[in-house]
Amino acid sequence: MWKLILLLLLALPAQAQELLGHGGPVRALAMLPGGTLASGGFDAAVIWWDPAAGRALRVARWHAGAINALAALPDGRLASAGEDGRIALWPGAGAEEPGTILQAEGAPVAALAAAPDGSLAAGGWDGAIQVFGREGGAQRLAGHAGPVTALAWRADGVLLSAGQDGTVRAWEVAGPVTLAERGLPRTALAALPGGGLAEAGLDGQVHLGALSLPAGERPVVALATAPGLLAAATAGGAVTLWSLPEGRLLHRLDGPGLPVWSLAFAPDAATLWTGGQDRRIRRWDAATGAALGPLAAEAAAEAPADAEAFRACGACHTVGPDAAPMAGPSLHRLFGRRMGSLPGYAYSPRLAQGDVTWTRDTVAQLFTEGPDVMLPGTRMPVQRMQDPDDLAALLRYLEQATR
Ligand code: HEC
Repeated sequence: MWKLILLLLLALPAQAQELLGHGGPVRALAMLPGGTLASGGFDAAVIWWDPAAGRALRVARWHAGAINALAALPDGRLASAGEDGRIALWPGAGAEEPGTILQAEGAPVAALAAAPDGSLAAGGWDGAIQVFGREGGAQRLAGHAGPVTALAWRADGVLLSAGQDGTVRAWEVAGPVTLAERGLPRTALAALPGGGLAEAGLDGQVHLGALSLPAGERPVVALATAPGLLAAATAGGAVTLWSLPEGRLLHRLDGPGLPVWSLAFAPDAATLWTGGQDRRIRRWDAATGAALGPLAAEAAAEAPADAEAFRACGACHTVGPDAAPMAGPSLHRLFGRRMGSLPGYAYSPRLAQGDVTWTRDTVAQLFTEGPDVMLPGTRMPVQRMQDPDDLAALLRYLEQATR
């Protein structure tokens, strides 16, 4: 699997942006039934977002490695899994810890898919698929030679899987059936509303029935469907929308050309979300293909140049005294405040120790060393400010706005 990831990562352009919601590429997205968007990153964080307000509701740092997959269960819970081989179910956006741990250790998980009846399937790098029933109990499906890279549930309740071994399989009650054998590793799979399937691989082609749709020159890494729509994203950053069932090209989205790792349609299919290498989650109008701007809330623009530096924080922090539900504590009256001391906010154990007082120097240290180095165990996303001018602008803004 690492070979595959390396293949996908080879020749990535250098990153310019710093300081966004995730501390690494956004590997997985899931739309929850209530309209909350969840994202999982290479930084091991799961973030719940309120897309309407454009802000993060919560950051969970529970996994010990990159998140590879998320799945929304029909009852509103979120499943997360990844490199650490653990599979967690989260009861809601406010949860401190997963409500249920389906698997405490195992092979790294590359794919998850939730069935309409509440079952959850997980595909591992060891080639095995596990199906967890809603009432407990797990079934193990073996057959893929090599990592299982994508899973989906067909409308009739049959599980579909794709693997690095180049095969696409249907796990019929009577036994597994090989639907396609492509020679090249498969990387993405989507069950279509009408009962069909779309699947794609390293060659950038999406197979839709007998059609082969070009998604880009680089490997396809994500597929998503909504009624009448199919979207594909590639490691080269191409995002393409086709109409279903005929596979007519609708739009090629005009993005920054960085790898796009994840896709999710809003429940009404009007908006498509993409998660990228640059840590950003972008919004697109699915009907026109136009960019709708980044998810992160824009900070108030009283001092535009300095406020710009705070843009990366605004999705998780307010600077005012109001206690809107945000992922991070309010930074109101930050300077002189003891770390982890805002009443009513549930800090991580590391911040709750309160052994730092926030001053110009300690806030500067936080972003030159990085939260992971200065405060190991914090839920703050890994982020650093290399440019002293950016850091000075951030400190000026914080001094003014948090007073
Ligand atoms: C994706 C969400 C997110 C982003 C973006 C983010 N933070 Fe945070 N921040 C948090 C969380 C969560 C905590 C609490 C961490 C904990 O309890 O371990 C926190 C804590 C802090 C604290 C400590 C506050 C206290 O009460 O002790 C400071 C200071 C801070 N953040 C500043 C910033 C600044 C400045 C930025 C932008 C450059 C930023 N953060 C970006 C989520 C975020």
